[in-house]
Amino acid sequence: RERKRKEGVNLLELSASFFRERMKMPEAVGARDYLSNRGLSDEIVGDFGIGYAPDDWEGLKRHLTERGINEAVQIEYGLLVHREDTGRTYDRFRDRVMFPIRDIKGRTIAFGGRVLGDAKPKYLNSPETPVFHKGRELYGLFEARQASNRLERLVIVEGYMDVVALAQFGIRNVVATLGTSTSEDHLSRLFRLVGEVVFCFDGDRAGRQAATRALETVLPLMIDGRQARFLFLPEGEDPDTLVRREGTAAFEDRITCASPLSEFLFDQAASGRDLSRVEECERYASQVLAALGKLPEGVLKSLMLGELSRRTGVDQSRFELLMARNGSTAD
Ligand code: CTP
Ligand code: MN
Ligand code: MN
Ligand code: MN
Ligand code: MN
Repeated sequence: RERKRKEGVNLLELSASFFRERMKMPEAVGARDYLSNRGLSDEIVGDFGIGYAPDDWEGLKRHLTERGINEAVQIEYGLLVHREDTGRTYDRFRDRVMFPIRDIKGRTIAFGGRVLGDAKPKYLNSPETPVFHKGRELYGLFEARQASNRLERLVIVEGYMDVVALAQFGIRNVVATLGTSTSEDHLSRLFRLVGEVVFCFDGDRAGRQAATRALETVLPLMIDGRQARFLFLPEGEDPDTLVRREGTAAFEDRITCASPLSEFLFDQAASGRDLSRVEECERYASQVLAALGKLPEGVLKSLMLGELSRRTGVDQSRFELLMARNGSTAD
């Protein structure tokens, strides 16, 4: 089993270097143009190990097979696709810009591949394999740690290109969840490294929904003075488009001014409600209380209850009573 795992790791490194080498070939001119049109320098492309999967059904397969990696392992690690009906095998990634996904020690564990144009799917990712569990990994974490050994804060974005574009602009403390929502597992891993996370999702409906889910997920983890903040981008922008338009300083200002968790929580509950109306204020209070019920006992929770009391004019002790009751009925 251990031998097999080693074989898998070896095959992933061999594949990553194959893609990097291919990026230098004449056939990759389209891929190189694509990256330079997106504003990426050779240095950043190198830091992230970005490569190119040739437009060939068996390019990687030949390369790996010549190096003694058998097809079954290539399939198991997601590089090769096996078609049940014809029994044929072929490269999963073809004619794509390849982003190696690395674990915290820098070992390649999977790939994301982007088409050069508008074809679908835009991104193709490695499937679940013995070393890759999509809901656990964060793209860019190894690179962020390489760039600084004193990270205090990590910014969480949606996409590969967001991480890489921000790095291009010198903002290197950025990680991406890989097209999945932010899990508790992701967040506890980040909080082991830094005291503060800033959620920065796309300025679209999906991004705002992701922020709402992230709030729910982060609430139970708010202990020991941890900070969570929320950065909302203008409609239609993502971190990549915005940093290219506004530059480093403006983007850093946005990070600095991101809403603290408490502010986002109150704003979210208030949105669309007229708090001068009794019933709407009541629903507002219930929504805030439900969220506060997920916060661990502590100063933050007490302060937020105090704030809710000021905002509604209802005694804090009433809310405490309600919370205790909600808590006991929820169990
Ligand atoms: N994603 C994916 N598969 C897709 C679309 C998206 O895995 N078909 C994941 C990728 O990790 C992608 C992230 O979700 O980076 C965010 O998606 P989206 O905002 O659509 O893509 P961008 O990262 O903005 O891609 P680009 O700027 O290259 O168009
Ligand atoms: Mn799994
Ligand atoms: Mn989006
Ligand atoms: Mn984008
Ligand atoms: Mn995007």
